[in-house]
Amino acid sequence: MSSRLPFLARVIAIDGPAGTGKSTTAREVARRLGWRYVDSGAFYRVAALLALRLALDLADEADRARLRQALERAAIEQEIVGGTPRIRLGGEDVSVEIRTPAVTSIVSRVADDPALREIVNAGLRVQVGEGTAVIDGRDIGTVVFPDAFLKVFLDASLEERARRRVAEAEPARAADPVALASYAQSLAERDRRDRERSVAPLRAAEDALHIDTSGLDFDSQVARVVRAAQDRIGRT
Ligand code: DC
Repeated sequence: MSSRLPFLARVIAIDGPAGTGKSTTAREVARRLGWRYVDSGAFYRVAALLALRLALDLADEADRARLRQALERAAIEQEIVGGTPRIRLGGEDVSVEIRTPAVTSIVSRVADDPALREIVNAGLRVQVGEGTAVIDGRDIGTVVFPDAFLKVFLDASLEERARRRVAEAEPARAADPVALASYAQSLAERDRRDRERSVAPLRAAEDALHIDTSGLDFDSQVARVVRAAQDRIGRT
């Protein structure tokens, strides 16, 4: 299918705040279309992991420069193994480590450096190359691939996103109001940083297809994106 598509018809951008099911949706859309799945947040998470490992101070400009250097030199690979995305840093599987609370708590600060974002964006363009990919993130349709073939903006209420995150991370506390409130607070804080940063803030591209996923089951969510992609493929 991909070889018949015009050059620009290579990227489906799926943006939106944390907890809207972007990555699971993007992965399943990619699987159904036979396209590659690329997780842009994983690059920022690897950068945050490097900052922790190198004990860098994000408030220090010289340390920020060290982080950018380390990221530029890092060999980051993404692939799906047995249906699960694996991220490797210099050959080491860091898929679990990049999701730890320590990484999550600093990643939006790492991502607010414009020069570091340029490094990530260049890495993302290399990952796509001349192929076809479904990429999820915050600025894929607005900044990284403004000519994306299809742009999707996924959203859901804060309560719904917190509920999903608790169920995923701590299923035993899924109905615990304290856990829900604490996840909601950290999601709101991350959203605020992502939306308010001066460079590449989280926002929907003007030509994005908006999908509110509150109350929508996963299959319907995926089917809407796949249908939109197929409609466009049919028109090219
Ligand atoms: O999607 P995620 O939670 O793994 O993303 C991790 C962080 O990286 C998140 O706080 C926002 C940031 N990010 C970004 O600024 N731009 C992207 N394209 C993807 C993620």
